[in-house]
Amino acid sequence: MPVFNQLFDEWAANYDETVYGNNNEYIEVFANYNNILETISQKIEDKKDGHILEIGTGTGNLTRLLYQKNFHVTGIEPSQEMRKIFKSKLPNVEILDGHFLSVPVKNKVDAIVTSYAFHHLTWEEKKAALIYLDSILNEKGRMIIADTMFESLAYKSNLLKYVASMKSFKLLNDLNTEYYECVEDICQLFKEQNYSFETIKMNKYVWIISAEKGGF
Ligand SMILES: C[S@@+](CC[C@H](N)C(=O)[O-])C[C@H]1O[C@@H](n2cnc3c(N)ncnc32)[C@H](O)[C@@H]1O
Repeated sequence: MPVFNQLFDEWAANYDETVYGNNNEYIEVFANYNNILETISQKIEDKKDGHILEIGTGTGNLTRLLYQKNFHVTGIEPSQEMRKIFKSKLPNVEILDGHFLSVPVKNKVDAIVTSYAFHHLTWEEKKAALIYLDSILNEKGRMIIADTMFESLAYKSNLLKYVASMKSFKLLNDLNTEYYECVEDICQLFKEQNYSFETIKMNKYVWIISAEKGGF
């Protein structure tokens, strides 16, 4: 069971206020948020006839966009409070209790998307998750990961100094205690599984990796 469940149960009620700019410390993390969700949806545009899995849906902001665009999407979310808010916003969309290493679906899917959630896994869990998720993804399926990542360790170090100088101590603590990776390290995991990939920087923190199975 994910270790961050309690945190997200407590954050659920005002999560949407944080992402839509009501929390000064996180404004730059969530800068361009709607555009990030829109870009994810565009990366799976050709999977409209397929089944999309979204992991770590939170309150369902990406899910809602996919639903509005007529994707067949199933949400996976470990926090009960997040699932409650999701259900109140999207009563017609399936949402299941699960996480990156346990997805309760019977058949393979055509795309797996996730935003602002993959960093909750340790490096070892990330490696295991990509192998596990590959096993439930159809050939030519796509995985899209949007999350805080760094272009280099030097960039990370400078960013931490900047965040400290802004006195954003909660954000600083997140950046120091959760499992944020360099973009190229995640790409290397995809390479090892024979995925082709592209990367896009969306703001000071967030990158999108779009990876296709069997791409190499
Ligand atoms: C920062 S929120 C992101 C929510 C939403 N995807 C968004 O973009 O706004 C992170 C979400 O990931 C979920 N989460 C935490 N650990 C997880 C795990 N191991 N597997 C799947 N989801 C997880 C949390 O419960 C939370 O809802």
